[in-house]
Amino acid sequence: MSEPFTVAIDGPAASGKGTISRAVAERFGFAHLDTGLLYRAVGVKMLEGVDPVAAARALTRADLEDGDWLRGAEAAQAASKVAVLPAVRAALVDFQRAFARRAGGAVLDGRDIGTVICPQAEVKLFVTASAEVRAHRRYLELRAKGSDATEKEVLADVIARDERDSERATAPLRAAGDAQRLDTSHLSIGEAVSEAVRAVEERYKAI
Ligand code: DC
Repeated sequence: MSEPFTVAIDGPAASGKGTISRAVAERFGFAHLDTGLLYRAVGVKMLEGVDPVAAARALTRADLEDGDWLRGAEAAQAASKVAVLPAVRAALVDFQRAFARRAGGAVLDGRDIGTVICPQAEVKLFVTASAEVRAHRRYLELRAKGSDATEKEVLADVIARDERDSERATAPLRAAGDAQRLDTSHLSIGEAVSEAVRAVEERYKAI
């Protein structure tokens, strides 16, 4: 298919939306953009002393490539802080919208894709799981990478980020009215991916 087809996948930290998004993109041959990486890259620049608005306006693909550092807990908290700034969000809109409407289909995952970036997306999913389940998943991931953070610390981190992301004035974390909700608390990765693939397939076939 060479037409645009946008799949918007939103949800809180460690809900499984990243894994689901990658799997959906692979299954349908769509491009994938983890929009959290944009905010993480700006957050890291802020930690390095750069003004976050200037950093967002000057962001390049190369800034998104330092995977390990960008995916760490420090970058996540910094991302959540710069994501509160309306001028930072505004600077990142055009890139995300252009990506979403590229020929051949795109999956974008984040917090405001279905509500603000792509309100016309062909498919919208809102992926959730309880804070405890999400913290446990993140804890196992971090431990596998050699981190010595305790599960209690990871849970506190998840809750702090949920609060900041949900309560900010601009583009808060929220399900779009027409998003399909997918609670992954009691689903395996395979089950969650199957549900998401089914939702995309239904719409994809209809076009
Ligand atoms: O998805 P993530 O954990 O990598 O996102 C890191 C932070 O970036 C998250 O706490 C809030 C912010 N973010 C956002 O505000 N809007 C998005 N579309 C994606 C991420």
